[in-house]
Amino acid sequence: MPLKRSPKNIEKECTSIEKCLALYRDSLSSKDMDHDGTHFDQKIPHVFVILGASGDLARKKIYPTLWWLYRDNLLPTNTVFYGYARSKTTIEDIQMKCLQYMKLAASEKEKYEAFWKVNHYVAGSYDSRVDFEKLNQQLYNHEKHSSANRIFYLALPPSVFESCTIHIRNACMALKGWTRIIIEKPFGKDSASSKKLSDHLASLFTEQQVYRIDHYLGKEMVQNLMTLRFGNRIFNPCWNRDNIASVQISFKEPFGTQGRGGYFDEFGIIRDIMQNHLLQILTLVAMEKPTSCLPDDIRNEKVKVLRSIPEIVLKDVVLGQYIGNEEGEGDAKLSYLDDPTVPPGSNTPTYAMAVLKINNERWDGVPFILKCGKALNERKAEVRIQFRDVPGDIFSGKPKRNELVIRVQPGEALYVKMMVKTPGMAFDMEETELDLTYSSRYENVKLPDAYERLILDVFCGSQMHFVRSDELSEAWRIFTPLLHEIQQEHVVPVPYKYGSRGPKEADELLLNNNYKFTGSYKWINKK
Ligand code: NDP
Ligand code: BG6
Repeated sequence: MPLKRSPKNIEKECTSIEKCLALYRDSLSSKDMDHDGTHFDQKIPHVFVILGASGDLARKKIYPTLWWLYRDNLLPTNTVFYGYARSKTTIEDIQMKCLQYMKLAASEKEKYEAFWKVNHYVAGSYDSRVDFEKLNQQLYNHEKHSSANRIFYLALPPSVFESCTIHIRNACMALKGWTRIIIEKPFGKDSASSKKLSDHLASLFTEQQVYRIDHYLGKEMVQNLMTLRFGNRIFNPCWNRDNIASVQISFKEPFGTQGRGGYFDEFGIIRDIMQNHLLQILTLVAMEKPTSCLPDDIRNEKVKVLRSIPEIVLKDVVLGQYIGNEEGEGDAKLSYLDDPTVPPGSNTPTYAMAVLKINNERWDGVPFILKCGKALNERKAEVRIQFRDVPGDIFSGKPKRNELVIRVQPGEALYVKMMVKTPGMAFDMEETELDLTYSSRYENVKLPDAYERLILDVFCGSQMHFVRSDELSEAWRIFTPLLHEIQQEHVVPVPYKYGSRGPKEADELLLNNNYKFTGSYKWINKK
């Protein structure tokens, strides 16, 4: 990604989200855009259609993201938005339901009204060609028969993906511009169902028209992994089995399913988080250096590393399900099975730890530990790279292992845990850190939301941060046998208390996989 301005300038200039994002968009080379032979052209009308406009995702994520992009003047000037869903609702009603998620400042009222003026709503069913033709007519009227580009966002349950995409293909494609389709996970439930969906999409659209969202690929610190690894000399030479003992990639949430158990129970934590978000991060941590920053060069390397990962086996996995904590407050008293939307006696895991191996020259023997869970003690997503013990120790076993921690959220940070001589007269040693906390180092920089970056990428035509179909198929290959075994053998998850760190069996698995926890590190937060 050749930056047109130096990072120093970006830091100086990024005092508003507008400037920050404009610089980001500038930084995409023209080669990254333009897959379909068309440029991000301010003059051409752009139409953004939200299918499933009355739903949760649209209300909480998509409309707010579109508003922020509109507010910050980041979209082509002639962009309009069409909501489409079965409900006989109105755009005013959608506007009302979205309000609490829009982060609206008093000074933005006028612009906010202008945003809703370019929003429209069409009611129609997901399986009626006539209804999609009706939608097409409306889009066409707006476009005034000129060239126009269309984006369709499928904020829909997977049960209607197939019919909707068929109708888009048959009734709603742009006549004189490009058409791009954004889809959200779940992309299937296992290898077979995912292949079916991929084949279906491939029969309707080219791969360049399909944008599979994994919103973790839009997060600042996930996007930072490439720069960190390949834009510095200090990391790459020690980024291998000779120096690294283990890698942990974690996702923790301090709340349970909260009435969303119906959806969750069908998928479980492995399909919800591990097979997509955590595995995507793993590929960026472990892949070889791509030949360039072009999206397909990067995705080729991601696929290569996935192909070196053998299928996960049950003995390398700990599964958990949360139970109520009598000492907790409110929801914390409730177990997963107390969620009325969860089927009684469900064995669906809400916590999982799995150890993956990468069978290549760089990583042979290094455990990659993926860990995710709901109803835990904190909100956290991070990559923790633990280095090997210092060889030939002359300090009587005092040096603790170095760790490089890339904290994705909350509070983006990058820190290296290391040993120093105890300051002062003593000739002892102690643990400390090299600390890059974004909120202090980049005090005035507002980091955009993951969806903002990704939706903007779709307008720009950059697929760098989207999942390609062969990546997806490899990801399912790694997890499918395990998922089938869990289901067929009715594997019972270990109970863990709401608000705890998860099952203690997980710490045992860590210990057996070259992660040493000493508990001796103390962080002094000077803020
Ligand atoms: P620690 O050495 O204290 O902990 C490392 C990790 O080990 C923990 O995050 C925890 O993760 C895990 N752990 C805890 N108990 C056990 C156990 N019994 N067995 C195995 N693993 C265990 O270092 P941290 O890096 O977590 O730092 C401590 C605190 O300092 C953190 O809150 C961190 O955010 C903060 N800090 C912040 C910085 C910044 O903002 N820039 C810089 C440096 C530190 P888990 O519970 O997920 O398993
Ligand atoms: C989604 C999962 O993909 O990611 C949710 O379906 C989870 O279960 C969410 O809560 C977490 O996203 P974030 O960005 O809040 O970490």
